[in-house]
Formats: sequence, structure tokens, C-alpha cells
Amino acid sequence: MKHPLVTGLQFGDEGKGKITDVLAKQADWVIRFNGGNNAGHTLWLNGKKLVTHSVPSGVLYSHTKNFIGAGCVVDPVALTKELAELSGAGASLSPSRLQIDFRAHVTFPIHLALDSGREAGAQGIGTTKRGIGPTYTSKVDRSGLRVGTLYDKEAPERLAFLCKTYNSMLRDAGAPESPLEDNLKILKQAQELFAPYMSRELTPFYKLAQSQKCLLEGAQGIALDIDHGTFPFVTSSNTIPAYAAIGTPFPQSKLGSVIGVMKAYLTRVGSGPFVTELNDATGERIRKNGKEFGATTGRPRRTGWLNLDEVKDAVALSDCTYIVMTKSDILMGEPTVAAFIDGELKQFNGWKTMIDGSALNPDLENYIQAIEKHVGVPVIAVGTGAERDDLFWRKPIQDFWHVS
Ligand code: GDP
Ligand code: IMO
Ligand code: MG
Repeated sequence: MKHPLVTGLQFGDEGKGKITDVLAKQADWVIRFNGGNNAGHTLWLNGKKLVTHSVPSGVLYSHTKNFIGAGCVVDPVALTKELAELSGAGASLSPSRLQIDFRAHVTFPIHLALDSGREAGAQGIGTTKRGIGPTYTSKVDRSGLRVGTLYDKEAPERLAFLCKTYNSMLRDAGAPESPLEDNLKILKQAQELFAPYMSRELTPFYKLAQSQKCLLEGAQGIALDIDHGTFPFVTSSNTIPAYAAIGTPFPQSKLGSVIGVMKAYLTRVGSGPFVTELNDATGERIRKNGKEFGATTGRPRRTGWLNLDEVKDAVALSDCTYIVMTKSDILMGEPTVAAFIDGELKQFNGWKTMIDGSALNPDLENYIQAIEKHVGVPVIAVGTGAERDDLFWRKPIQDFWHVS
């Protein structure tokens, strides 16, 4: 058995949460391997909306367990809030349904202060201000605290060193500092919060879960990858599927199908290149109809036409085997739509309906076939709305754990 992975093929917010939720029905575990609460994954069920940030999107099934991998960063204050929100929505997560790898790094107020301080200056790139960059920085420079190190007697001392280093940077930049006492207070809270959820397991995950089905849930998108994305306008983790073999105890050979999620158009939050951006009434209409406002920060998302040259590269880089295209319902009624192919913007007929009888509208089908021809992998399903069941399967796959 090999375990499938859901990844974003664009700049994030492609609809990974919805697709993960759909596939999680068959999964025993849903596993996050990168990022933190910069992610905002929206799930809709029976008219009720739920957004996951640090917690994997297997929350809506009582039989599905959720795992936050070593490659993730976790903010204890934000996680406390998220767990309370999930619980309020009827998806309460006892420690038997949520585990956090002891190797995941912890976001403290000092990381948040540094992220905000940088964003206020000339080097700002439009981050989510969730402390993601500084937390990964302190991981790589080995001064940060892992979930597992919170309980060491040296933890307060490590935190004091971190605060001293980062506060001096903030002072130099004239930005607000984060007092050590505030950080020590969070250290205590974090120790209490993580204790029941922490996993100290060292055995590769698939060995523990030999007969169990795991689903890996990527955060952000390929174009935001720290190495392969549009640097410096990227996030601070590797978002590509290869990182799952690092950010979880999963060897590469156990990773299976890569399900790339892509919007029928393109959005981006924050700064950075966007060749097909629409700064006109069409772009505004797509933002409004598609409710293109960040699930984490509420910021308006930049909108534009699909860039199939970038998607083709993302497909190649991610070893993507199947594409799920979301939100073509948002383009419904546009007289024409366009996509960037081989360096040129090509026009297509718009579609007036989504489904005619038991097939997709021929103009939408034509658009999809052009996508498949350019990127070379099948579009297996098409989103027709935000709800879990709003999916039209063009090529149904019965069991993603047993496809070659
Ligand atoms: P994620 O970060 O990749 O999980 O995506 P987000 O949740 O940030 O943004 C995707 C948005 O599109 C959410 O509001 C979803 O509810 C919504 N969505 C997902 N698929 C579809 C679809 O096919 N049609 C429509 N109309 N909305 C969708
Ligand atoms: P999901 O998982 C869209 C963007 C930010 C910013 C850049 C760096 O919901 O698809 P960071 O806070 O990570 O240091 O910000 O990355 N960004 C996202 N954009 N969806 C996301 O996550 C994102 N996570 C980060 O807007 O441009
Ligand atoms: Mg999102």
C-alpha cells in the first residue's frame, strides 16, 4: 500500500482542504508535513463552514486520526483557539484523534514580533504574520524550541537566549520588542497544551500504520516553496511533496499518488510576480463571486487567469499524478476565459452551465482538455461548489491507496 498526498499546484488556497476532507473519509490518518497556521483550509458540510489552520483536515470524521508532522511549526496560542473553534463546531479532538510530533517547532510571541517587525519595514513581502519565517529560522539556526524540548529544564534558558537575539534585531529596526516574561508565560501554557497530544514515536509512520491508510495534506502551494517558488515571495517551508518524506516519518517509497489541486483561475495573497493578474472589472468580479478573501487573514486575494506554464512546472516538480480543478463554477457566465499557455494568453469559450445531463458542459470540457494536453496529467474531478459533495468526477478512482 502507498499513501496519497494532496498538494496545491499554485500559490495556495486552491481548495486542498475540501479535497482532503473528501478523501479523508477513506483514511485512518490525515497528516500535515509542512507549514503552520499560515494555512487556512476551508471545509463545508451541510451549510456549515469550518477552517483548519494547524490541525489536519481529517477533523470531520470521527474514525480519522490527525497527525502534525515534524516538518510543521505550531503556535500554542493559535492551536488552543483552533481546538476550541473545532470543538464548538462539533469536531472536538481528543488526544486519541490528534497527535503532534515532538520534533515540530514551537512559535512563541518573539517569533510573531519578528515577523510583524519585518513586515512593517521595507523587506515586507505580505506574510500572514503568524511567525512562520522566524520559527523556521530558529529551527535551522538551532536556537528554537521543539515541542519535545519544552519540558527540558534548560527550556527557559533557551527561550531567554532566543528573545535576547531577536529582540536586539527588533530594537535595531525600531520595532516593538517581545518581553521575555510574555514568552515564559506561553512556555508554561505550551507545556500544558502539548503534553497529552505529543507523540515521541520514532518508528517510521507507515510501520505503525501498516494496514492503516494515511493521507498527506500539503499546505500552501508549489509556487510558494522556499527553494522552488518565487523567492523571496514565498513561505519558509518546502511545500513540494518530496518534503513529506522529511516532514513526517514516511520514507519516499511509501508515498503514492500525488493529487494536485488547482483553481480554474489563479489567486495570490501577498506580494510577488503574477503575470496573468487581472487588475480590472473581470478580476474584481472573480474576487467577489469566488469570495477570494484569505481564510487565515481575511486579506483580498489577487486574481487572474490560469497560468498553465507554471502549473506544468508544478506538476513536473511535484510528480503530480492527478489534478482536481476547483472553482470553475465561479467562471460560469464569463463570455470568454483565458489561460497562459507557452508564453501566450489563449482565449477559450466560457461556459453557461456546469453540467449538461450527465456530462460537463462542452465548453468547460474543452477548457479541461486543453489543460490536460498542456500539463500531461488527467483532471480527474471538477469542483462545482464549496460543499463536500460539490465534485464532478470525470475519472473516478475507487481507492487512492491501491493505484499504481
Ligand atoms: P486551501 O487553502 O487550498 O484549503 O483553500 P482555501 O480554503 O483557503 O480556499 C479555497 C476556497 O474555495 C474555500 O472558500 C473553499 O470553500 C472554496 N472552494 C473549494 N472548492 C470549490 C469549488 O469547486 N467551487 C467553489 N465555489 N468554491 C470552492
Ligand atoms: P494555504 O495552506 C495562500 C503566503 C503569504 C505570503 C507568503 C509568506 O491555505 O494554501 P508566511 O506567513 O508563510 O511567511 O507568508 O506566503 N501564504 C499563503 N498564501 N495560502 C496559504 O496557505 C499561505 N500560506 C502562506 O500570503 O505571500
Ligand atoms: Mg487557504
